[in-house]
Amino acid sequence: MQSESVFILAIESSCDDTAAAVLKNDKVLSNVVANQSIHEQYGGVVPELASRAHQQNIVPVIDAALKKSGVDKSQLTAIAFTQGPGLMGSLLVGTSFAKSLSLALDIPLIAVNHMHAHILAHFIDEDGFDKPEFPFLALTISGGHTQIVKVNDFFNLEIIGETTDDAVGEAFDKTAKILGLPYPGGPLVDKHAKLGNPKAFPFTKPKVPGLDFSFSGLKTQILYFVQKNTAENPDFIAENIDDICASVQNIIIKILMDKLKLAVEQTGIKQIAIGGGVSANSGIRNALVQAREKYGWKTFIPKFEYTTDNAAMIGIAGYQKYLHEKFNDATVVSKARIEF
Ligand code: KG4
Ligand code: ZN
Repeated sequence: MQSESVFILAIESSCDDTAAAVLKNDKVLSNVVANQSIHEQYGGVVPELASRAHQQNIVPVIDAALKKSGVDKSQLTAIAFTQGPGLMGSLLVGTSFAKSLSLALDIPLIAVNHMHAHILAHFIDEDGFDKPEFPFLALTISGGHTQIVKVNDFFNLEIIGETTDDAVGEAFDKTAKILGLPYPGGPLVDKHAKLGNPKAFPFTKPKVPGLDFSFSGLKTQILYFVQKNTAENPDFIAENIDDICASVQNIIIKILMDKLKLAVEQTGIKQIAIGGGVSANSGIRNALVQAREKYGWKTFIPKFEYTTDNAAMIGIAGYQKYLHEKFNDATVVSKARIEF
């Protein structure tokens, strides 16, 4: 079966990005994402609006991905889609479309776990990017998740640490909201942080045992800090936004790196791969690069377009499932919550 090329159409619609990609084996031929700007004015994703926008975008996005790849529908080997976790109304759009297309083309259907896909994105064949070897540790950091996963094999993954409350992406987005920046604020905090002094305002690390994380206390700490200073100087935010962002980003990086160091100590594994939207953060990427020299780790940082939500990662997970003949029938359903 493996000797012939495998062409996978992948669909991702778990949150507020409608995405489609076409892969030839482990190579990405096209990777199209339609962002939903509608949520900016609400300061967060509005589920009803997200599912409606997915319905509007899904056909043009899949059309564009196929056209860009140069692959005709009739050449497709299988359809992969995000089964969960995510917003039910959003997931339903991609799931239903994938099911219908696999039935119409009479080709296999493959359900993919979004968080699994963020990790397997490292196995996309890209010039200049090495693939990790098993076992490795994956730090998955997104708007909905913060986990340290021990990846023993493509399909054998153990969560060894995770957040007990907010995800790290929420910490970035809520900081941005406190500072009056639009949603999603993570990239904007990153942008301001590049211009500021990370030691300007010392925030404190929460005390959380083991490999788990907590970010809700940090959010409250930032809120009180900004409220107190704004009461004394109404222009405090405007005058200090770069330093505030740099200081917040600095403490978040410290929290993540300290837990990674502990995970390396506990498992003896020195290969670290990051994934999820927050791994687009320049400070986190720098810290991981520095860790190569500082601690002797081998670190894997995905290509920028495979960090935030995309369908190429669903495609590579689908490709691995295809090789292992892990298929689904037409009764498969979307799941808002899902285990590895
Ligand atoms: O993986 P993702 O695209 O969607 C989820 O599955 O949640 O992650 C989105 C999250 C948002 O919280 C966004 O603010 C954050 O990733 N993010 C960043 C950066 N780019 C995206 N956070 C910090 N710095 C960035 N450069
Ligand atoms: Zn994601």
